[in-house]
Amino acid sequence: MKEEAVLLEKNPEKKVEAREAVPCIMPDLRVQIGSLALRNPVMTASGTFGYAREFENLVNLDRLGGIIVKGISLHPKPGNPPPRIVETACGMLNAIGLENVGVDRFITGKMPYLRKLTTPVVVNILGDSVEEYSEIARKLDGAEGIAALEINISCPNVKKGGVAFGTVPEMAAKVTEAVRRSTTLPLIVKLSPNVTDIVVMARAVEDAGADAVSLINTLIGMSIDPITRRPRLANVIGGLSGPAIKPVALRMVWQVAQAVSLPVIGIGGITTAADALEFLLAGASAVQVGTANFYDPSAAESIVQGLTSYLQEQGEDCLVDIIGTLKTGTD
Ligand SMILES: Cc1cc2nc3c(=O)[nH]c(=O)nc-3n(C[C@H](O)[C@H](O)[C@H](O)COP(=O)(O)O)c2cc1C
Repeated sequence: MKEEAVLLEKNPEKKVEAREAVPCIMPDLRVQIGSLALRNPVMTASGTFGYAREFENLVNLDRLGGIIVKGISLHPKPGNPPPRIVETACGMLNAIGLENVGVDRFITGKMPYLRKLTTPVVVNILGDSVEEYSEIARKLDGAEGIAALEINISCPNVKKGGVAFGTVPEMAAKVTEAVRRSTTLPLIVKLSPNVTDIVVMARAVEDAGADAVSLINTLIGMSIDPITRRPRLANVIGGLSGPAIKPVALRMVWQVAQAVSLPVIGIGGITTAADALEFLLAGASAVQVGTANFYDPSAAESIVQGLTSYLQEQGEDCLVDIIGTLKTGTD
């Protein structure tokens, strides 16, 4: 470790000062997602970290790069009947059904705690129609302490026969435009992998005014118990997540990062610093940790530490310098 780094490590207050004055003395983990500044690129994924308070005794929340809260709808949602979670090879299937407290109770009941954190809080939103997305965004626009919105477009549009907003480029663009008009907050659009060409979706939301894209949401799957001959999820189908989806997510992040000029946030099976590095090298400016939180709540914190060690070992001062540095040719 460099001499300055040792000194600063022992005096975290000085570290903050030094970082402001001289940005790249230490391994500097800061990244920028549009106008959203993060102290490091490691966030927790929506639906896997509750409203953060549930994790306060398990994780030092102030060490995370960002917290994405559980998806919020206009009205409270009870979710699907159980069983709603099934373990699969290297992953899990869930059909929680977007259970949440609704936007009004979120603002009055959850934001007072969240706004006290030093970590940026991103609110994931979902709707059954374009109008619902707009209304939620308008309500959140006036709430203090929200750093950005993440739009979950993997939801069915009830007005259009239940086709997911995230599978038709024109519908994804409509939601993005409508939310853009309803808020000045930075907008991250979260892409669904359940499409033929994710690049088309990324370009559609970029043109519609997104500030960043995050990917991937879960892959649709199912599981059957051969003895009972019944599906293991009461909802029959559910979303696959965890290490099983990492290669698919990485491929999509790499493709999207080359195709759009927006910052890309990588999600899918990230469990270790090595996993996170794969996404950063493929072009992601930040990552989200999801399923890993269920079996190792300290995963995101350990990844931050692991990224610091990697940069030190590689002699790199700034994390941003390694983003998108994947070598694919003969160099
Ligand atoms: C139990 C569970 C609940 C989830 N809820 C949401 C949600 O409310 N909104 C959303 O956009 N994504 C939701 N997701 C998707 C995750 O945020 C993430 O995109 C996905 O799980 C892939 O990352 P992972 O493999 O690290 O878990 C959920 C995932 C799980 C496992």
